Amino acid sequence: MAEIIDITKDRRRAIEAGCAVLGDGFPIAIPTETVYGLAADATNPAAIARIYETKGRPRFNPLICHMADLEMAEEYAAFDPISRALAEAFWPGPLTIVVPLRPHSAIHGLATAGLDTVGIRLPRGFAGDLIRAFGHPLAAPSANTSGKISATSAAHVEADLGDKIRLILDAGASAVGVESTIVKVEAGRLRLLRPGGLVASEIERVAGRRLLRSGKASAAIEAPGMLASHYAPGAAVRLDATHIDEGEALIAFGAAPIAGSEHARIVLNLSRNGNLAEAAANLFDYMKQADASGAATIAFSAVPDEGLGEAINDRLRRAAAPRE
Ligand code: TXA
Ligand code: MG
Repeated sequence: MAEIIDITKDRRRAIEAGCAVLGDGFPIAIPTETVYGLAADATNPAAIARIYETKGRPRFNPLICHMADLEMAEEYAAFDPISRALAEAFWPGPLTIVVPLRPHSAIHGLATAGLDTVGIRLPRGFAGDLIRAFGHPLAAPSANTSGKISATSAAHVEADLGDKIRLILDAGASAVGVESTIVKVEAGRLRLLRPGGLVASEIERVAGRRLLRSGKASAAIEAPGMLASHYAPGAAVRLDATHIDEGEALIAFGAAPIAGSEHARIVLNLSRNGNLAEAAANLFDYMKQADASGAATIAFSAVPDEGLGEAINDRLRRAAAPRE
């Protein structure tokens, strides 16, 4: 079973224990402002292989590499002016930037799935301190079994992966609650590979240009993690619900009444006053609670597709996608 260390009680021991397990080449669960990550030394192939094994993740799917600061990031990858401006404006924070690897970069090809680019992000808070103490970048996907709902608390990680990993560092609930926004500069154009915790319009403001959206989730190599079915609860998922059928779970948004909600097995509200940041922070935990209610279907009321709603709706569409 994993040891759990509360970083708010003993930050030093958390960093020492974390560095020790990472140094042995094993993954650990770390808190970030977006979701919990399953982190391992991005320069150690055996350690990275253990991330894939622990998550049951397809090997063609590249991992985000987490750095302590921009200087560290530039040791491994080359930043064009737009990528650098975004890094300076938003790091540390919920933004991942895909940039070309430097020749002979020490980041192992298992972390990048053999691509010549790498997705880099600087997490806010404790994770940055841990990386600085460890001295190597950390490859870290979300700390959940592949295809399942991402973990936004140490308890989520423990329930899913607790018997497969040695250490979980606990910093309470993740503040943002959805994964980072992923962007890539390509031939002078800025592409949105995944909507996430940083609102797209903020990125457009700093970059001084529009983000190109690929339209729909594709299994293309640019973002192979963007598989259609993802974030899947055990229950079926129904979107844009305006009524509830007997025994369904309801995850509402805002104050609008939903017909038949008195028949719901459980009623949760992402944000009663329609605050999208609050909704993002509650999303994955409420999906897990609704799933645990035993309802065969989770019905979601509509969430506006603006600001953080873009990331929330992306996750909801994947949760509702046909399963393989
Ligand atoms: O907030 C987050 O981003 C969390 C926390 C732990 O930092 N991490 C996370 O990682 O969501 P993961 O592995 O679940 O998602 C990585 C995504 C995948 O969709 C992957 O395909 C994409 O990033 N990605 C990674 N490297 C890439 C690259 N070189 N080119 C294009 N996409 C890449
Ligand atoms: Mg994930």
